[in-house]
Amino acid sequence: MKKIIIANWKSNPKTSAQAKKLFNAVKSASRRNKVVICPPFSYLSVFKYKFLCAQDCHWKQSGAYTGEVSPKRLKDLGVKYVIIGHSERRVLGETDEIINKKLKAALKAGLKPILCIGEKKSQDAKKIVNNQLKKDLKGIIKKDLKKIIVAYEPVWAIGTGNFCSAVKAGKIRKFIKEKINNKVLYGGSVNSKIAKDYLKAGFDGLLVGGASLNAKEFRKIAKNA
Ligand code: PGA
Repeated sequence: MKKIIIANWKSNPKTSAQAKKLFNAVKSASRRNKVVICPPFSYLSVFKYKFLCAQDCHWKQSGAYTGEVSPKRLKDLGVKYVIIGHSERRVLGETDEIINKKLKAALKAGLKPILCIGEKKSQDAKKIVNNQLKKDLKGIIKKDLKKIIVAYEPVWAIGTGNFCSAVKAGKIRKFIKEKINNKVLYGGSVNSKIAKDYLKAGFDGLLVGGASLNAKEFRKIAKNA
């Protein structure tokens, strides 16, 4: 089965020359798996690629929303996926209600949403994930629900090098699958040494942050997945 390997560059790299270099080095990282590239907004119209992903979108398709990027506009650019509800956005005040509106707008525009969920340190993972799924997916019709990819990312494991064991993550994956039988990815300090463990635990792919900025490392992850 084809795995989905996402490179989430966040607000990196620093220059467009570096971004172009990285893009060219990773776009063909795997023939077997689906490599999704998620650069900052400013590169989405520059890079020509089948599996481009945005890091966020607004919940309105147009209007007086200074600074926002609408899902329809992303679709017009040829973007295919959009990350919604990343913990680095939730920490800025993005609520489950906002995430729910963004998911609906993205689906309406024909984008494939990647919904990020996960618990903070010392929180009960199942309780948090259950609550997020309930609120984030509220009112989304069955036909649309199927299009959503879920990314389980324990917040305490993101960008910290603190690994969530594949066994532990696998248990939460199973729990998520019981709620919504969609593709579930894993994210949180994934590197080429541990990437395979999560896939063996049943995850359909990986959401890679820090390690996706190192072309050699990311190619290794995508190739061996
Ligand atoms: P990380 O980021 O791989 O640097 O932990 C993952 C993410 O934020 O999606």
